[in-house]
Amino acid sequence: MDREVTYADLKLTGNTGLETSSPPSLPQDVCQRPTWRQFALKLACTGIILLALAIIGLSVSVIFLKQKSSTEKSNVDVQEKRNETTERPSLLKCPMHWHLFQEKCLFFSNNHKPWNDSLAHCSTQESSLLLIQNQEELVFISNLTDKSLIFWIGLNFTLPEKKWKWINGSFLNSNILEIVGDNKENSCAHLSSTKVISEYCDGENRWICQKELKSIRNKGYPDS
Ligand SMILES: *[C@@H]1O[C@H](CO)[C@@H](O)[C@H](O)[C@H]1NC(C)=O
Ligand SMILES: *[C@@H]1O[C@H](CO)[C@@H](O)[C@H](O)[C@H]1NC(C)=O
Ligand SMILES: *[C@@H]1O[C@H](CO)[C@@H](O)[C@H](O)[C@H]1NC(C)=O
Ligand SMILES: *[C@@H]1O[C@H](CO)[C@@H](O)[C@H](O)[C@H]1NC(C)=O
Ligand SMILES: *[C@@H]1O[C@H](CO)[C@@H](O)[C@H](O)[C@H]1NC(C)=O
Repeated sequence: MDREVTYADLKLTGNTGLETSSPPSLPQDVCQRPTWRQFALKLACTGIILLALAIIGLSVSVIFLKQKSSTEKSNVDVQEKRNETTERPSLLKCPMHWHLFQEKCLFFSNNHKPWNDSLAHCSTQESSLLLIQNQEELVFISNLTDKSLIFWIGLNFTLPEKKWKWINGSFLNSNILEIVGDNKENSCAHLSSTKVISEYCDGENRWICQKELKSIRNKGYPDS
């Protein structure tokens, strides 16, 4: 190309002798000459310009895509880190002598106490007396126990409402879970086989504590 441009310049200066002192002609002038050679040059000029534009466009888009994918990757990294930290609680275990049941850890006592002392014991273990959602859960949990044993759960007959109330403050929905026995003052609920039974609160029974798996620190609590 350079050689051809130089050749064209020389030809140009030869034809117009007076303009020898003027600066060398620009390639545009060359491109305007209507000979086949000039036409070829013009084609080459256009080709080179198009090629340059294509290269610039390509490199700009490559850089853009690179940046985009790297920001997307770092987003995924952040997401993965977040998942890692939020999923860590699933690694937690129930303390020693507690049994994993669905989302809960359950403790089955071996000794016998009145309902209020059972309630107090569970509190000292950072737990509560057992709460049961429905008949299905009742059957599952009673299946974990010896059917001949009796366990206090976290449900008592409260005044002045004269209703059965879970220790978390909700009233019992008797459509979901039915109590066998008296609805009267000083009555507390125990689990026996697959039934929930009303009994005098000062009677002494075993009991079941529960705690949510997610709040557990895996340090192992001493048996009572
Ligand atoms: C992170 O967890 C959410 C739901 O918990 C899931 O949709 C997403 O795909 C997870 N991301 C990664 C990178 O594992
Ligand atoms: C449970 O009730 C009995 C009397 O009914 C009482 O002597 C005892 O202190 C109570 N226990 C707790 C932990 O409140
Ligand atoms: C209390 O426990 C009962 C029985 O598991 C449950 O149905 C109720 O939704 C709970 N109430 C609250 C406020 O957590
Ligand atoms: C009770 O537990 C036994 C095994 O100990 C199991 O075969 C049975 O299916 C369980 N029943 C229910 C209702 O969970
Ligand atoms: C029922 O249990 C609650 C604790 O959840 C207690 O404050 C209340 O005195 C008990 N009711 C009766 C009648 O013992």
